[in-house]
Amino acid sequence: MNSIEKLIKQQPEDWSLKQEFYKQTDIYELEIKKIYMDSWLFIGHQSEIPNKGDYFVYNLLSESVIVVRGKDQQIHGYMNVCRHRGSRICLEDRGNMQRFTCPYHAWTYNLDGSLMIAKELSNGVKKQDLGLHKCQIEVVEGLILLNFSDQPSSLDDLKNELSVPMNMFGFKDLKIAAHKNYPIDANWKLAVENYNEWKITTNAIIVLLRIQSIHNPILRS
Ligand code: FES
Repeated sequence: MNSIEKLIKQQPEDWSLKQEFYKQTDIYELEIKKIYMDSWLFIGHQSEIPNKGDYFVYNLLSESVIVVRGKDQQIHGYMNVCRHRGSRICLEDRGNMQRFTCPYHAWTYNLDGSLMIAKELSNGVKKQDLGLHKCQIEVVEGLILLNFSDQPSSLDDLKNELSVPMNMFGFKDLKIAAHKNYPIDANWKLAVENYNEWKITTNAIIVLLRIQSIHNPILRS
């Protein structure tokens, strides 16, 4: 049994977490791997990118994802990493593009992530093998969810649970009025714990809080 397993075993139920859970780097790294990289993250609303080519960039730690409305009018996600030498492709946070051109050597990608223009490809290297890496994206009642895992968990239960209450509140038709960030120089769990102590009465909002508690942009080790 490793030290993290021992700590978990010693943790009394219904008590505040031991100090180590907030301070140990190896626990933080495990949280990133098991929670943030393997869960559905709430990253935005469909109203933010209503038109073909509208996009925003979602950043989490060292990862960067282009979230774009494609020609098929669906929302897609691609790693913001050029297949040539790994440069960031989108440097602006949001905008509208009919294609994405890497600022380094101008490799150019279609809205569906496929490689459109690449200079000086070696013999035998095919453009069709060098599209942007796709990310798992789902839109649930207007909310855009992202999962970094190649084999994400099913969202069927969540969709069933949310369908009625979110319809009731018209989540699909919401618009973003403002973005606010509140960076906190603390371990991310402290913020989530405090956030979840608020008294919320409707089931729909409680379920949303569960989603939001998974996605928190103020990670600090
Ligand atoms: S790194 Fe993108 S074109 Fe070279």
